[in-house]
Amino acid sequence: MSCSLAPQRPGMPARQISASSFAEEFDTARNRLTKLDFEQEHKPGHEHEDESPIASPSLSSSDSLTSEEPSPLGSEDGDDDATPFTPMLDPDSDNVADNFAFAFDIDGVLVRGGKPIPEATEAMKVLNGENEYGIKVPYIFLTNGGGKFESERCADLSRQLDMTVSEGQFICGHTPMRELSSRYRDCPVLVVGGEGETCRLVAESYGFHDVITPGDILKANASTAPFRRLTPAEHAASRDLLSSRRRRRRPEVRKLSDIVISAVFVFADSRDWASDLQIILDIAQSRGGRLETRSETFDEGPPIYFSHSDVVWSAAHEHVRLGMGALRKMVETVFEETTGGKKLVTHAFGKPQVGTFEFAERLLRQWRAEKHGLGLGTLHGRSQAPAVRTVYFVGDTPESDIKGTNAMDEKSGREGTEWYSILVKTGVYQEGTEPRYRPRKLVGNVLDAVHHGIRREMARKKTATEGRLLSLDEDVFKKVGEGRMPEIVERVGPFSEQ
Ligand code: G3P
Ligand code: MG
Repeated sequence: MSCSLAPQRPGMPARQISASSFAEEFDTARNRLTKLDFEQEHKPGHEHEDESPIASPSLSSSDSLTSEEPSPLGSEDGDDDATPFTPMLDPDSDNVADNFAFAFDIDGVLVRGGKPIPEATEAMKVLNGENEYGIKVPYIFLTNGGGKFESERCADLSRQLDMTVSEGQFICGHTPMRELSSRYRDCPVLVVGGEGETCRLVAESYGFHDVITPGDILKANASTAPFRRLTPAEHAASRDLLSSRRRRRRPEVRKLSDIVISAVFVFADSRDWASDLQIILDIAQSRGGRLETRSETFDEGPPIYFSHSDVVWSAAHEHVRLGMGALRKMVETVFEETTGGKKLVTHAFGKPQVGTFEFAERLLRQWRAEKHGLGLGTLHGRSQAPAVRTVYFVGDTPESDIKGTNAMDEKSGREGTEWYSILVKTGVYQEGTEPRYRPRKLVGNVLDAVHHGIRREMARKKTATEGRLLSLDEDVFKKVGEGRMPEIVERVGPFSEQ
């Protein structure tokens, strides 16, 4: 995509981004990046310990891609046969549940205000094999949160839950934004949210090459937000949009109004809502994204993407706290209020978007193959792990976790994977209230959820076995007469034991 000064009306609502396309591209990307990661780790002289998360090959590999319109996610060049799985294969893969799995929301389910929810560690132990059946159950994490590199979030979660969480089983709110970097690779984009410069670095690692932050705009024109003063540290960290270095890359830029923002990405929760709101609105009301301008029609701003739309979330405070979805609503409402009633359509990733759950299902498929060796087959020439029959999704927010899981279940239909929603009482949902979206099961906490899922599976298995035994009765009698009973017992035995 060219980002010439002629602004482009993006007109590309998020719904037009095919969810399955981002899921597919991510699969391809993960294959490719994991392969790169593996090759890098096994290169002579590679010192894994010295690597900062920022330099992680799986996060910076987009820099090494050189084709005309490259996808930082990987290529369509048939890398599907990459086999990145062997090094991580669980040696105890025999005892793994092969037809069900869990997916977990994080805030309000496993963690609250940075501290683990008491039952969370135990729940993970149960899934890791410490249960009465001695089975391991595959699981992934799907959070709307973000603001850090995925590797850092995994390290945090590993610490909080006292176990190892891999990037291969983790999706955060802004992970899908990576796909859009191929479209906006060299275009100026505004990245909002998070602590300090982290989200800029995450966006750059995704393949966005010209990331501008609200701090950069405030540094260039302090009157943008009259009551916000950058701290000396923020001032030093923010980039000079008119520096000679930047102008060497963009000689056409002499003043702020020469910069055209092609898209706005809210990566993580804002740390200063007033100035971020002002700057997002300025761009939404600009002439085609051009800084410091005003549109006469208010319908030519660039697309605005939020990494999720949770209006509230569960943090340390006893009552829920405002989340990114509240900022999104403010942007849309104030836009309407200040433009004489014009509507602003913004876009959100994350839960409850079905596309996010489709992506999660593909990640889970990949993870089951990678971690547990639940084999890869081939479908239409592409590597493919078998689909899981049931995914138990454990969440605390009816509006995102339960709504999304139920919608995904409906979309999957009878033939597809069953997505079974479990609502816990340790986060946003308050006991005694009627959830806006009804879960299949309401439980106290994540440990109860894990027990419920495992017991349901075992009961299903027992029912199936008994049904099978009953239907075999006739055969059994017939075959006993034929002297073939032992074969039947052998075939049925393992089922009845569990
Ligand atoms: O900002 C994070 C929050 O909105 C939700 O996180 O883990 O509950 O999806 P989570
Ligand atoms: Mg939550």
